[in-house]
Amino acid sequence: MENQFSNKVAFITGAASGIGRASALAFAQSGASVMVADYNEQEGKETVQLIQQIGGKAEFVLCDVGNEASVSAAVSATIKIFGRLDFAFNNAGISGDSGNTADQSSESWNRVIQVNLTGVFYCMKYQIPEMLKNKGGSIVNCSSILGSVAFAGASAYVAAKHGVVGLTKTAAIEYASQGIRVNSVGPGFVVTPMLEKAGLLEDPGTKAFIESLHPIGRLGQPEEIAGLVVYLCSEKSSFVTGQHIHADGGYTAR
Ligand SMILES: NC(=O)c1ccc[n+]([C@@H]2O[C@H](COP(=O)([O-])OP(=O)(O)OC[C@H]3O[C@@H](n4cnc5c(N)ncnc54)[C@H](O)[C@@H]3O)[C@@H](O)[C@H]2O)c1
Repeated sequence: MENQFSNKVAFITGAASGIGRASALAFAQSGASVMVADYNEQEGKETVQLIQQIGGKAEFVLCDVGNEASVSAAVSATIKIFGRLDFAFNNAGISGDSGNTADQSSESWNRVIQVNLTGVFYCMKYQIPEMLKNKGGSIVNCSSILGSVAFAGASAYVAAKHGVVGLTKTAAIEYASQGIRVNSVGPGFVVTPMLEKAGLLEDPGTKAFIESLHPIGRLGQPEEIAGLVVYLCSEKSSFVTGQHIHADGGYTAR
């Protein structure tokens, strides 16, 4: 257990699984108290147990990021339990239906935008006032490589992730002078349940094709994104704000 984040509190959405869970563990490992926010109660509570097993401090709060009242209540619960908010990783996301733009259902479009983009807005709307009370904080929003480049068959996801980048930059310049830094991360393809559910890891041919899109020759691991998120909340990144930073094995450099 390290102590760079001792007496600090981190709020992480989508922390029941994948990148969010790995990040929750990394923040706890660095000494932060972690609020595990997710709409999957069972797996969210498992994340809390994993943190407690390594001697960390965490609580679970039920939170649907697509629902403003739910986000507001989850941030309030964090303040009630831990007393303050220093860091946020707004990471919860869904992939939506796959299909070309004209074949997308409006329902899938609306849900992806609601969770992946509006959800990040709701989170910042309630996190920022709490951080202003401490005269500082760091917010990391989860975008994607698809916040910078297109991917055929995923128009809603790509639009939402590009939107997260613009939202991040705007909030960053609005609050920079008040001590709050806001950045976004852009993972390449990372081995998580999201990719498993999308069926991208099952077929060896499909998996090899996706791997080949990354010059590094493999997919990412959740811990490789968590390390970047922790860095963006640490003092080591004290001059970094308004940036969209890829951790993508070179995907976007081609
Ligand atoms: N895995 C990848 O290849 C990859 C690449 C780039 C970006 N991302 C992004 O990383 C983030 C995490 O994805 P992951 O791969 O770890 O996926 P995952 O499916 O393993 O985890 C997503 C988590 O978000 C939660 N969640 C979904 N909708 C929610 C909602 N409305 N309210 C609260 N929680 C909700 C889920 O319950 C789950 O715990 C997402 O924003 C995703 O778009 C993933």
